[in-house]
Amino acid sequence: MNRISVRVDGTTYEDEVEPRLLLVHYLRERLGLTATTIGCDTGNCGACTVDLDGVSVKSCSVLAVQADDGEVTTVEGLAQDGEWHPLQRSFHEDHALQCGFCTPGMIMAARDLLRRNPDPGPAEIRRALKGNLCRCTGYQNIVKAVLAAAARQDAGAEPAASGGAA
Ligand code: FES
Ligand code: FES
Repeated sequence: MNRISVRVDGTTYEDEVEPRLLLVHYLRERLGLTATTIGCDTGNCGACTVDLDGVSVKSCSVLAVQADDGEVTTVEGLAQDGEWHPLQRSFHEDHALQCGFCTPGMIMAARDLLRRNPDPGPAEIRRALKGNLCRCTGYQNIVKAVLAAAARQDAGAEPAASGGAA
């Protein structure tokens, strides 16, 4: 067992974990943060995307011990003071989801893009989200939602408590 200390969505956790424990299993099973989903467990679908120390990662491809001394932001940490993140609002308003299974990972990957480029075009959005698969929507409304979030001009502005590099 390894002892880790990791800050997740603004809260610091100290835990003993097996060296082989995946970050996504740590988040879901140990911390109960089940909004981060598992679609494949093989690094293909992007459903498990979270932010680790300012970098977007597929948490089924990262070990919990690799997050030791790190800061993780999940989709559950995006809303602040009861206010949705601009991407959450846009996904809701633009009907960018059906079953919602891919949505946490989509939003986290889109957030990563908007921090790097607050004003991306549709082609760049599609490129940035190519590692995130959706079985339901056909992607059109997802791209529309990311464009709408960018147009809100505040998509990249997040309170410091949400973690990650700006
Ligand atoms: S569950 Fe991680 S990429 Fe599919
Ligand atoms: S909304 Fe169902 S998988 Fe994307």
